[in-house]
Amino acid sequence: MGNPKIILGIESSCDETAAAVVQRCTVGVKILSNVVATSLSLQAKFGGIIPEQAAREQLKSIIPVIGEAIDKAQITSNELDAVAVTRGPGLIGSLLVGVETAKTLTLLWNKPLVPVNHLIGHFYANWIYNPLPSFPAIGLLVSGGHTDLIIFKNHGVYQYLGGTRDDAAGECFDKTARLLGLPYPGGPAISKLAATGSPDKFILPKPMINSPDLDFSFSGLKTAVASLAENLKSKTGSLNPKTQADLAAAIEEAIVDVLVEKTLRAARDYNVEQVLVAGGVAANQKLSQTLRQRAATELPHMGVLIPPPPLCTDNAAYIAIAALYNFRPVNPLSVHADPSLSLRH
Ligand code: KG4
Ligand code: ZN
Repeated sequence: MGNPKIILGIESSCDETAAAVVQRCTVGVKILSNVVATSLSLQAKFGGIIPEQAAREQLKSIIPVIGEAIDKAQITSNELDAVAVTRGPGLIGSLLVGVETAKTLTLLWNKPLVPVNHLIGHFYANWIYNPLPSFPAIGLLVSGGHTDLIIFKNHGVYQYLGGTRDDAAGECFDKTARLLGLPYPGGPAISKLAATGSPDKFILPKPMINSPDLDFSFSGLKTAVASLAENLKSKTGSLNPKTQADLAAAIEEAIVDVLVEKTLRAARDYNVEQVLVAGGVAANQKLSQTLRQRAATELPHMGVLIPPPPLCTDNAAYIAIAALYNFRPVNPLSVHADPSLSLRH
């Protein structure tokens, strides 16, 4: 088969059940539909994700979500050139729902199946509009479970440069938010509150910001926030709203400063003129503003691409786009969910 034009993407790695239909254009891609069902209200109630519960929700939503994506795209399954599915990483129960559904559909419809690494998939939310990314590019992936820097040499050709030695940036947002009594997911909650606080009221560590490597570590920041919050609470019984906002601003600044410093270091070390950011934390406005501002003054020839916020968090559009640019169909029966897939190879 030649170049595929219309692909159905399926994403079920965590607590979002998502399906999208995308179409190749002369330049970039048109998203014909992008449906995301989330069990977020359940996660907010329990303060995080319960894997068995997330898998049960996936099972309930997958068929209606795929049906809705096809309807909204105003096509029939006959018009699809292929199906793409996230094969990992993620929660095994959740992944299995998407992978087995995609395998069944491709066998039924007699269509090619393209398995996608969710982490690489995230970057393809940058391959939609003009200007499209150029190679080589430094890629910063900041999601709930991963914080990695890679150099992208071409589609499907990348090299791992560094990553977190403990907690991911998103995980740090989620865990420190919890310490401040904020709801899950913590990133958007901290960011909203931080807008009303001052980042200079509390001095927090910015772990590994000056280390010459391209690794990260965020668990020390989380521990510092835990002992600070404990200290403040022991004096006044609880955190007042002003203190909460100042702490949120200091947390956001510490995380953003480390991410930006290491990303610019990678761009300088590898002499690239393109940076791509991806993953849920890429929706953070302070991150995008700080990275763009510093890049504009320190590396003026470098382009910075960050997807629009709704495409940063988990969805199936970028899974389908990744398959358009990396069209390598496989025998559906050979595809297996892999919860520990990574960028480290
Ligand atoms: O990529 P993603 O949607 O799911 C994974 O693949 O993990 O990332 C979810 C992470 C969560 O940790 C969430 O707190 C964080 O992205 N996040 C944000 C923002 N929106 C989502 N972090 C900071 N600022 C945001 N606006
Ligand atoms: Zn993700």
